[in-house]
Amino acid sequence: MRRITSSVAISLLAMASVAQAATPEDTIKYRKAVMETMAGHIAGISMIFGGKIEAQEYLLSHAEALAAAGDEVGKLFPAGSGTGKTEALPLIWQEGDGFRKAAETAKTSTAALRDAIKGGDKAAIGKALKSVGDSCKGCHDRYRHKD
Ligand code: HEC
Repeated sequence: MRRITSSVAISLLAMASVAQAATPEDTIKYRKAVMETMAGHIAGISMIFGGKIEAQEYLLSHAEALAAAGDEVGKLFPAGSGTGKTEALPLIWQEGDGFRKAAETAKTSTAALRDAIKGGDKAAIGKALKSVGDSCKGCHDRYRHKD
């Protein structure tokens, strides 16, 4: 038992020490994980806001987590992470500025949704939710491979 515990500790240490040099595979996996969390939080927010689920007390925590991920979107596409198991199109790195703008809309629209939820005005929340959806779709339409 003691041996198992110390080997777990050692592998955690090893993980911590390699964390600085992510492989392209891990970068892509992490990017997809963050994207998935955004989809999850939006689904949660839509269901609570739409009255399908009684979980009003969690609405803001979903929105805060979504805004944190929205803030991170622009950092999820470092150079060298465009090949492998990814649907990210090469245009992302060819068209730097356009892509940076698309990532910026994810940041501003998710922050605006969080603020609208804090404010509690239903019309403002609905509008902000739509802007977030437009931001996701706008970027996917242009920069993500379609099946
Ligand atoms: C700036 C561009 C951009 C924005 C904004 C953006 N995405 Fe993405 N998203 C991508 C790209 C590119 C991929 C493909 C990533 C890959 O395969 O490496 C992707 C992939 C995904 C995936 C699939 C992940 C997987 O497991 O393969 C989901 C789900 C997703 N995005 C949800 C969202 C949601 C929800 C939003 C809005 C809150 C959003 N995205 C905003 C560019 C964006």
